[in-house]
Amino acid sequence: MAVLGQIRARFAVTTPFAGMRIGCCMHVTAETANLMRTLVAGGAEVALAASNPLSTQDDVAAALATKYGVRVFARAGVDLPTYYRHIGRVIDRRPHLVLDDACDLITTLHATRTDVLRDVRAGCEQTTTGLLRLRAMAKAGALRIPVVAVNSTGTKQLFDNTYGTGQSTIDAIIRTTNTLLAGRTVVVAGYGFCGRGVASRARGLGAAVIVTEIDPTKALDATMNGFPVMPMSKAATQGDVFVTVTGNRDVITGDHIEAMKDGALLLNAGHFDVEIDVRWLDSNAVRANRGVRQHTDEYLLDNGRRVLLLAQGRVANLAAAEGHPPAVMDMTFADQALTAGWLAQRSGELEAGVYDVPDDVDAEVARLKLGSLGVGIDALTDEQAHYLDSWDQGS
Ligand code: ADE
Repeated sequence: MAVLGQIRARFAVTTPFAGMRIGCCMHVTAETANLMRTLVAGGAEVALAASNPLSTQDDVAAALATKYGVRVFARAGVDLPTYYRHIGRVIDRRPHLVLDDACDLITTLHATRTDVLRDVRAGCEQTTTGLLRLRAMAKAGALRIPVVAVNSTGTKQLFDNTYGTGQSTIDAIIRTTNTLLAGRTVVVAGYGFCGRGVASRARGLGAAVIVTEIDPTKALDATMNGFPVMPMSKAATQGDVFVTVTGNRDVITGDHIEAMKDGALLLNAGHFDVEIDVRWLDSNAVRANRGVRQHTDEYLLDNGRRVLLLAQGRVANLAAAEGHPPAVMDMTFADQALTAGWLAQRSGELEAGVYDVPDDVDAEVARLKLGSLGVGIDALTDEQAHYLDSWDQGS
């Protein structure tokens, strides 16, 4: 993670977080560990809870706690009360800044810990799902702090969401089930940045890919990219593998599951476990064979067919694989680190609300990444810069 490494070296000198406490709720992975080390190098006292009950890499959590001075409250496979207790422990540290991944830390602060919220100066949110929640909070007038939408930068969406989710989701399928995708039909629900990544990686491995959408423009985009688009009720009968990446609930329902072929494989790559109706499976399947392979449960339906579910319907690319590779998380976490540094200098200046990452942060991360890859680009000449700034030169 060369970009983050450079920022860490800079922060060690400039210490933008001297005297500050930062509370984080993120997947506890090796990549996140590098972000935590960067915050610590910048002078912060850091506390970290997991942003999903299944995604913690326990060895990483232990290393951060014992070697890098981070207070870590996370363990793989905890139940929901423990998961929220861990978030509560981060809040107990009374953070000045919060870095969140899907908004559980920020919503918990607003719902139950307004005593601490009073002293929180600002936050960053990393994912699409978290931003949906934040914008709903802002619309309802409930958001009390400024939060920067780190998810919306080009250096995040175009790489982490697209290539990261694309590759790590396919990785989860292959690691757990060793499925040959060539010749299979993969149904991808949702054609945002993440869905487009999954669809293109599956196609690259020889699968026939069907897309389902609720957004007409995205559906058209998928169509023009050569993917058949149809309602899930129709796709359900055709798919061998189903991937949900929508950020919404009830994308695959009991009716859809009953229409699927014998042996269909279901997985979710969205943040929460509401996209596939796992509760329907748990209460309607004739039998559940847990752990037929690692992270894989098999359900026998009363129509005699079986379906396989990865990672209990939770975010499979983190719970059943290792998450996105460091090469893309480098940019996401560089965005996070620089945005946190930007926020640290602006205590009290920003009203409550959802903000974009400053353009120069995005551009700097892209420049550093290109440099780390040894890629050079052209620079605008003075004449070109002037032309772009003018309005009076037509044909
Ligand atoms: N989200 C997706 N992949 C991740 C990773 N490797 N680390 C932290 N958060 C992630």
